[in-house]
Amino acid sequence: AEADDQLIIDAGQKQFGATTCGSCGMIYSADSLEDNFQHTQFHKRFLDSIKFVGWKKERVVADFWDGKIILVLPDDPKYAVRKAEDVRQLADNELGFQQVSLSCPSQAKTYLFVNSDRMVVGCLIAEHIRQGFRVLEQPEQTKDMTKEDFMEHHRVWCCSTTPEKAICGVSRIWVFSLARRKGIGTRMLDTVRNSFMYGGHLTKEEIAFSDPTPDGKLFATKYCET
Ligand code: ACO
Ligand code: ZN
Repeated sequence: AEADDQLIIDAGQKQFGATTCGSCGMIYSADSLEDNFQHTQFHKRFLDSIKFVGWKKERVVADFWDGKIILVLPDDPKYAVRKAEDVRQLADNELGFQQVSLSCPSQAKTYLFVNSDRMVVGCLIAEHIRQGFRVLEQPEQTKDMTKEDFMEHHRVWCCSTTPEKAICGVSRIWVFSLARRKGIGTRMLDTVRNSFMYGGHLTKEEIAFSDPTPDGKLFATKYCET
């Protein structure tokens, strides 16, 4: 029976035609000319953007067996700032952010996770803030909730309504789809806490996430409770 089920699943996938590119991570229908065209375009741009050739001066703020984290500051050489911007744009596209500007670009610190294949597979942008809204844990969903109740719950769930003192705001965190759940996001945040303030260490409470996505909420909730 297991073999039969497998056959059915395979047939279903073939009909649907969804393929995930092993290099750029794009999911597309290989049967569609249009999709193939879009993939070819995305593929090249994506790999160009995350390619990391290495710089004369790299501000390495963390070293791991599978990569390193480089900090890019607004006054760094053009090539460094441009790479940070290229990767941020990839992340923004995926997050659906429309506006290209940061709240205060001259203050933003960009952390790039470069893997051993010399690809930027993670990006985190941190900014100084005075207050933030803490990400709260998801409450148990009650069965007979009205839609309004749910929406209210949902809204309250993503962020507490009372502003709390925070020092570091994470306005973007992104990890390449094929490199997720390997602790890259966690390691980038740990590194921010150790290096954001000169000579100081930030607690988890001093970090705030702005407008987290569903992925971001799950990640932030897990990160804050551990
Ligand atoms: N679903 C459930 N739990 C998750 C998820 C998820 N999608 N992502 C992370 N977690 C939890 C898990 O408990 C995980 O531990 P585990 O893998 O041992 O179970 C823990 O968080 C740590 O995960 P990491 O591996 O450190 O996180 P990762 O490197 O995968 O990065 C991130 C997480 C950045 C959210 C990634 O999924 C991503 O880039 N998503 C798309 C972009 C996005 O939505 N970014 C957040 C936007 S919000 C903002 O920028 C302020
Ligand atoms: Zn591809």
